[in-house]
Amino acid sequence: RAENSNILIKINEQAAKFYQRVLVSTNAGRRGLEYAKQRKLDAKIIDHFKIGYAPRQNDLLLTYLRGRDFQDSDLLKSGLFVQTKNGSLLDRFRDRLMFPIANEGSYVIGFSGRRIANDKTEAKYINSPETKVFAKSKVLFHFAEAKKAVRDENHLVLYEGYMDVIAAYQAGIKSGIASMGTSLTDQQLYMIRRITKNIIINYDGDDAGIHAEDRAVKMFDQAGGFNLGIVILPEKLDPDEYIKKYGAENYTKEVKGALTPTDFFLKRLAKKYNLDNDREKLAYIDEAVKAIAKLTNPVEQDLYLDKIAREQNVSFDSLKATLARYRRQFN
Ligand code: UTP
Ligand code: MN
Ligand code: MN
Ligand code: MN
Ligand code: MN
Repeated sequence: RAENSNILIKINEQAAKFYQRVLVSTNAGRRGLEYAKQRKLDAKIIDHFKIGYAPRQNDLLLTYLRGRDFQDSDLLKSGLFVQTKNGSLLDRFRDRLMFPIANEGSYVIGFSGRRIANDKTEAKYINSPETKVFAKSKVLFHFAEAKKAVRDENHLVLYEGYMDVIAAYQAGIKSGIASMGTSLTDQQLYMIRRITKNIIINYDGDDAGIHAEDRAVKMFDQAGGFNLGIVILPEKLDPDEYIKKYGAENYTKEVKGALTPTDFFLKRLAKKYNLDNDREKLAYIDEAVKAIAKLTNPVEQDLYLDKIAREQNVSFDSLKATLARYRRQFN
């Protein structure tokens, strides 16, 4: 029922305001503010992303929202509370930096909370559970805001983490979005497609990130019609860490230098072979040319053949002959 959804959105909106006020102007929020400073989140960023802090005490949000005349039954449905065995409600998020998740109309429908304490037994991030208004598979963090930036930047940039979207924003790339800690879904892909065909994927530079990037590239490829760019950061860094280490300007260069899917594929392929060994080198070249033969654009084919010829110190003509053989096979 629409009416019910409206109440759940109102509760989430009020909670975001509460968390943000706790963060910026209460004693209970000092821990959160210290952590935010440590992560280099300034007032402007806190404001844009509506970042807040869920205090350690486990009934402050509950008391606040009850005071605003919300019913316990609705509060429970909002996902912001857990119910104890005896039926009473407790705040779900405690001692966490709070990132509101908004729907396409910019209304808050859920949260992700980052652990502040060093206690590694607790999950680093926890999300709101699925509710009537919050379905993880159908939302993208920062989507409504990123949409506005597409006019200037002419692309969306897909990240793995919330902090990456935020760091990129600080570095001047305002078109960042992220899925909710899960791999990209078809619904999210369609959301992106409605906005732009230009999508840059910049997951973490670690093995898990590169693997996830690979999977995302395949999804966009399969859906078709996208113009994909792929960024792989050095030293296994994630975008947030990279920006802190090398600065905004270098980061912007990395994004501008995004690889095409073929480049990405060839780089990954090359890593599987020991190119100092002739037998492996031949196998690599063969595999690479076979992949290039599947490209439909002949200019693109020449471009990558030329690249391989120069990199592997073989003649362009012999590669072209190999490619012709594969094309006859495919057709
Ligand atoms: P990462 O482990 O790369 O975290 O997970 P991060 O984004 O770099 O976070 P910081 O910098 O340590 O604060 C990437 C994403 O996976 C989801 C979150 O969406 C996170 O942003 N995740 C991670 C979870 O949902 N739960 C977790 O416990 C960890
Ligand atoms: Mn750009
Ligand atoms: Mn990661
Ligand atoms: Mn990360
Ligand atoms: Mn990180």
